[in-house]
Amino acid sequence: MTRAGSPRYAGGMTTLAVVPGSFDPVTLGHLDVIERARNIFDEVHVVVVHNPNKTAMLPVARRVELIEEALREAGLSDGVTVTNWSVGLLVDYCQEVGAKVLIKGIRSEVDVTYETPMAIVNRDLAGVETVFLLPDPAHSHVSSSLVRQVAALGGDVSPYVPGAVSRFMASGDLT
Ligand code: PNS
Repeated sequence: MTRAGSPRYAGGMTTLAVVPGSFDPVTLGHLDVIERARNIFDEVHVVVVHNPNKTAMLPVARRVELIEEALREAGLSDGVTVTNWSVGLLVDYCQEVGAKVLIKGIRSEVDVTYETPMAIVNRDLAGVETVFLLPDPAHSHVSSSLVRQVAALGGDVSPYVPGAVSRFMASGDLT
């Protein structure tokens, strides 16, 4: 059932999905979701979006590089494109590349509460549906904000992030 005035799901056979996020930095939970998305869709675009509600640790270009390196090292690069989007709505990006599906990782009901309004707005705006994927429970406590906090206080983030990120963060130059 579609609400009056709200665009219907516009897709037929969908082979491209967009995995958006701040990825500041990319975590093992993110990699898990990207891998699961790639198992379902032929092509996945990982899109780094600046979230004005969050204080950034890393520049967007660095986040893109670290995701690319992490995917390469995990053998997950095939069929995955990493890019950034900063010029408008996320659904504008989806329309530009012909993506009908967004993917969000759901760790708990807190994520469902946070993601549901965005999913409905993205569908209302452009008929882009959101698919929620459940990461491995081993990652259910992992978030970029936790990693930023542990790193800022001098702790070891290596259990939570890909090697590319822990090496980069250990270098001490977060630019
Ligand atoms: O990793 P995050 O910070 O939870 O990701 C949130 C993000 C970047 C996916 C979200 O803030 C977003 O979609 N921003 C794009 C701006 C937009 O299109 N807003 C209107 C619809 S929600």
